[in-house]
Amino acid sequence: MNILIFGDIIGRPGRKTMQKALPDLCKKHQADLVIANVENLAHGFGITDDTIAEMRQAGINFFTTGNHIWKNEKGKKLLAQNPADIICPANVTGNLPGKKMAVITVKKIKILLINLLGQVFMETKEEKIVSPFETFDQIYQENGQDALVIVDLHAEATGEKRAFSWYVDGRADIVVGTHTHVQTTDEQIMPKGTAYITDLGMVGAADSSLGMEKERVLAKVALKKETHLEPPTHAKAGVLSGILVVVDEKKKKVKSIQRLLQNYELTNA
Ligand SMILES: [Fe+2]
Ligand SMILES: [Fe+2]
Repeated sequence: MNILIFGDIIGRPGRKTMQKALPDLCKKHQADLVIANVENLAHGFGITDDTIAEMRQAGINFFTTGNHIWKNEKGKKLLAQNPADIICPANVTGNLPGKKMAVITVKKIKILLINLLGQVFMETKEEKIVSPFETFDQIYQENGQDALVIVDLHAEATGEKRAFSWYVDGRADIVVGTHTHVQTTDEQIMPKGTAYITDLGMVGAADSSLGMEKERVLAKVALKKETHLEPPTHAKAGVLSGILVVVDEKKKKVKSIQRLLQNYELTNA
């Protein structure tokens, strides 16, 4: 089984990059399952019906999210309908919409998908974050024993993600970090079999600061001005970051993990 997993898709440039890249990538890698993080899908913050529909049509089968997912009211309404293919971080308290995990079947293999938030430098007004370690234990005990377990740990701190990878090695089959929008080069199969990368990176405008318009970021960060961050209105190129994981279907074990990082020219973004 071949699984493609992509980092945070950011706004229109990210969606256009995905639409351009994914059909060929799916063909080339004979993808059986495509997963992407969509916390920044709709103009940088959350999701909408239309943007999720676009990404389904592009070929993404399943969506994970993160700390920005509840910042879009349209997206919250969509999440309240519990769509089968979208999950939200499981380790938050409070009355926030969205499914906390999902069990799907691909090529007769049961797959458990879990989305978690890190606790280091992450907490906001919207959510109170409890331990991703303990939440993993609970979900894994109830649903994970006979499943291929995939975790998106959406977290700022590399150290926290690395610690998590050791905590779940041999129980989770694939652990990917998201949220920083910068891809790390530490993809590996860990001693007990878990495929791991600290951060997948992003799918968004290449000429940007983490997918957001760089002038706005400079105004905010360098000049300390009150500035709303948003993706560039037009982007000449998009960067696509993710991984390909190959799973041995008989053994239900990961065989390999390969990093994907490529720029695509965009004409209509
Ligand atoms: Fe993000
Ligand atoms: Fe995030």
